[in-house]
Amino acid sequence: MARRALITGITGQDGSYLAEHLLASGYEVWGLARGQANPRVSRMRKLLADVQVVRGDLLDQGSLISAVEKVQPDEVYNLGAISFVPMSWEQAELTAEVTGMGVLRMLEAIRVCSSRGASIRFYQASSSEMFGQVSETPQNERTSFHPRSPYGVAKAYGHFLTQNYRESYGMFAVSGILFNHESPRRGAEFVTRKVSLGVARIKLGLASELKLGNLEARRDWGFAGDYVRAMHLMLQADTPEDYVIGTGRTHSVRELVEAAFVAAGLDWEQYVVGDQSLHRPAEVDLLCADPKKARTQLGWEPTVAFEELVAMMVESDLRLLTDGGDPDQDSSWP
Ligand code: NAP
Ligand code: GDD
Repeated sequence: MARRALITGITGQDGSYLAEHLLASGYEVWGLARGQANPRVSRMRKLLADVQVVRGDLLDQGSLISAVEKVQPDEVYNLGAISFVPMSWEQAELTAEVTGMGVLRMLEAIRVCSSRGASIRFYQASSSEMFGQVSETPQNERTSFHPRSPYGVAKAYGHFLTQNYRESYGMFAVSGILFNHESPRRGAEFVTRKVSLGVARIKLGLASELKLGNLEARRDWGFAGDYVRAMHLMLQADTPEDYVIGTGRTHSVRELVEAAFVAAGLDWEQYVVGDQSLHRPAEVDLLCADPKKARTQLGWEPTVAFEELVAMMVESDLRLLTDGGDPDQDSSWP
C-alpha cells in the first residue's frame, strides 16, 4: 500500500514542491486546506490534481485531530504558517497562534491519534530566522538562537516544542532548520520574487523603478525544489534528528538585485529606489548555513547555484508577464 503523507501549507511554495516530490515517489498525498472558499486551494487543485484535500486550520485543534483521523498519515509535514516576517510585527498575536501554537495543535493531534495505535512521523518547518542576530557564522545545528522578529520567536517555540515532544513522548518528530529558499512559485512579497517581477516589469516597459528596503542584509538563498527533498529525507532517517539545510553561500540583497538586472541585460542602479518604510524594526543582517550534517548523514546536496536561481526566476517572470499572466491572480502560478 502507498505511504500516506499529510501536508499543511499545501497552497504555499514548499507545499507544491513537496507534494510533487512525494507523488513522484509513490505517496498518497493529502493537503490540509483552510477557509470556506480559499482561491489558493482551487489554484492548487488545478496544478496538483492528484493531491487530496482535507479541511482544517492550524488555529482549530479539533479540525487537526479530525484531519489526522481521516487521513491516517504515515508522515505529517507541518509547513503551514504566517511566513512573511514583516507581517509578524503587524499581526504578532496571530503569528504566535498560527506559526507557534499551530505546531502544538498539530503535535497534539498526532499524539492523540498515536495513543490509539498510529505511528506517525512529524516534520516541522523551522527557520534560519531563529538564529536572528547570529552568534557565529556559518550557523549549524548547535548555534544558539536570537530571533529578531515575532515570526522568529514563534518558530523558535515550534522548534523547541517539536524537540520536547520527541523527548517527552518518544515521537519521531524532527525540525528542518531551512535557510531561505526560492523559486518561480515564491510569494511576490518576498524579496527574490519582488525583484524578479520588478525586473521583468521594467524590461517589458510596465514599470520604471523598483522600491526596496535594506540592500546590505545577507541571506543564504537556495532553490525550493532542492529543499523539499531534504524534508522527505529527514523523515526516512533511522533516528529523529534536526538538520540545517542551506547552500553554505551568502549573498547581499544588493548582489541579488545586481544579478537579477544583469539576467535581463539591465543596469540596476538606474532603476532601484531606496524606501525607508521597507526597512524592518529589527533586521537579521547575516545568514549562512553550515549544511555539513545533512550532507554527511542524509546525503543531501543543493543542485541550483545562486546565479542560476536568480536567472530562473527572472526568465520565468518575463515569460509570465509576456504571456499576459498576472502574478496576483490565482491562475498565473507558474
Ligand atoms: P508560504 O508560501 O507563505 O505558505 C504558507 C502556507 O501556510 C500557505 O499554504 C497558507 O495557506 C498556510 N497557512 C497560513 N495560515 C494557516 C492556518 N491558519 N492554517 C493552516 N494553514 C495556514 O510559505 P513557504 O515559503 O512555502 O514556507 C513553508 C514553511 O516553511 C513555512 O512554515 C515557513 O515559515 C517555513 N520556512 C520557509 C522558508 C523559505 O525560505 N521559504 C525558510 C524557512 C522556513 P493559505 O493558502 O490558506 O493562506
Ligand atoms: N520582502 C522584502 N521586500 N525584503 C526586502 C526588501 C523588500 O522590499 N528590501 C530589502 N529586503 C530584505 C529584508 O530586509 C531581508 O533582510 C531580506 O531582504 C530578505 O527578506 P525576505 O525575502 O522577506 O525573507 P526573510 O529572510 O525575511 O524571510 C524568509 O526566509 C526565512 C528563512 O530565513 C521567509 O521565507 C521566512 O518565512 C523564512 O523563515
